[in-house]
Amino acid sequence: MRAPICLSLLPLAVAQSVPAQLFSSIIPPKVLATFKSLPSPIQYPQYTDTIQGEWIDFVPDTWTSAFFPATLYALNTRKTLCGATPSNGLNAANWLALGRSASNGLIPLELTNNQGHDVGFLSFPFVEELKINPSNQTAITAVKQFAQDLAVRFSPIVGCTRSWNTTDPTDFTVIIDNMMNLEILWVAYGLTGDENLRHIAITHADTTMKNHIRPDGGTWHVVEYNSTTGLVIRKRTEQGFADNSTWSRGQSWGIYGYANMYSHTNDSAYLDTARNLANYFLTNLPSDGIVPWDFNAPLIPAPRPADSSAATIAANGLLLLGSLEPNPADGQKWINAAINLLNKITALAWKPSWQSLLSNGTVNKPANNFLTGIVYGDYYYIRAGNELISMGLATCSG
Ligand SMILES: *[C@@H]1O[C@H](CO)[C@@H](O)[C@H](O)[C@H]1NC(C)=O
Ligand SMILES: *[C@@H]1O[C@H](CO)[C@@H](O)[C@H](O)[C@H]1NC(C)=O
Ligand SMILES: *[C@@H]1O[C@H](CO)[C@@H](O)[C@H](O)[C@H]1NC(C)=O
Ligand SMILES: *[C@@H]1O[C@H](CO)[C@@H](O)[C@H](O)[C@H]1NC(C)=O
Ligand SMILES: *[C@@H]1O[C@H](CO)[C@@H](O)[C@H](O)[C@H]1NC(C)=O
Ligand SMILES: *[C@@H]1O[C@H](CO)[C@@H](O)[C@H](O)[C@H]1NC(C)=O
Repeated sequence: MRAPICLSLLPLAVAQSVPAQLFSSIIPPKVLATFKSLPSPIQYPQYTDTIQGEWIDFVPDTWTSAFFPATLYALNTRKTLCGATPSNGLNAANWLALGRSASNGLIPLELTNNQGHDVGFLSFPFVEELKINPSNQTAITAVKQFAQDLAVRFSPIVGCTRSWNTTDPTDFTVIIDNMMNLEILWVAYGLTGDENLRHIAITHADTTMKNHIRPDGGTWHVVEYNSTTGLVIRKRTEQGFADNSTWSRGQSWGIYGYANMYSHTNDSAYLDTARNLANYFLTNLPSDGIVPWDFNAPLIPAPRPADSSAATIAANGLLLLGSLEPNPADGQKWINAAINLLNKITALAWKPSWQSLLSNGTVNKPANNFLTGIVYGDYYYIRAGNELISMGLATCSG
């Protein structure tokens, strides 16, 4: 799925050091404590309060539920990469067993859920399970079923899967975030060979490429189509600063989503789109390198709230893009930018005293939900550390 970085690249890569916190021994005990505090019947952490940094849990039928189980799988991956020792803290638990256990609460969602396109996110732990045990029938069923849940939301007239339901069924709403959920179609395609799933992923990505991206490489959060005619009704925001602004987390999802489409297809249009979105992201960063919650949100009153989750998601997107660039020197540019984002966000938001790893997440600024830890921000932080190790760009101690 991913082009390996050849070893001859290594000398170029040491230009900038990665933050040691990515591999901190306080990560495993924090995650273990969160696991132990999961309520029964199970609920999953989504974000923290803004004062103590304590997780707030949500019922399984929530779009973010799978990120905590996926975090447990990510620590299992890290154990595979680094070994489990008292000094790295990974000896504290059997992460695979915990990941499997925490995934069970997601299984009923395969058949009924209120998450629309976000079934792709809900499938993450099952996709990880299949990398470990490709014959796990529970995970195979989950992947196929979640892919089916997304596939039935596809409209050939619009050329997209529907992100959210609306009261008017002809109002067909698609958000840039939906690019992340296409991965479940690819995984299920790999299992079944069902060409329809591949066709849907490609068509959705092509339509989104046409309508969600501005000439400057910024993105619209929401595009509403008429499901009867397939025409665009309006472009607007849901969680951004303004209808015509670029909401940073959406931009991050787009970078990752298009790099991922390129990894599955080798279609250079996706590579160009991922580059275009990445360029917008990096050239619109303020001079302090901190990712704002929206690139067009006003600087005054200061400080303009950051979104640490947009930073960690973008870092993963840039690492993926960097690993796929046909010319390694081009790849190095994205990898350096990813490491820079991780350094900046660690300096701002690393929070040993909170239950989350990072603070300064913006869940939804218009809804006044910001300055929190966020479960997917932490997940992508751990994953970025794993990717850097896998790519030979960091050691297990930083
Ligand atoms: C198979 O995967 C599911 C879900 O990820 C997990 O709960 C279960 O324990 C796994 N089964 C085995 C035998 O590993
Ligand atoms: C959304 O609409 C589809 C099609 O009408 C329906 O099957 C589904 O249950 C609805 N709800 C959600 C949250 O997806
Ligand atoms: C979509 O187009 C149809 C046919 O022109 C029209 O009846 C319907 O109101 C439109 N829906 C929206 C949400 O604009
Ligand atoms: C968005 O639209 C407003 C009002 O037309 C305009 O003042 C602003 O410059 C636009 N912002 C961007 C980022 O295009
Ligand atoms: C993309 O190209 C690379 C390098 O030529 C090749 O290894 C890979 O199999 C191709 N992937 C796809 C999906 O065609
Ligand atoms: C980061 O979070 C702290 C409190 O947790 C807050 O005081 C600070 O203003 C935030 N900075 C940004 C840039 O969001």
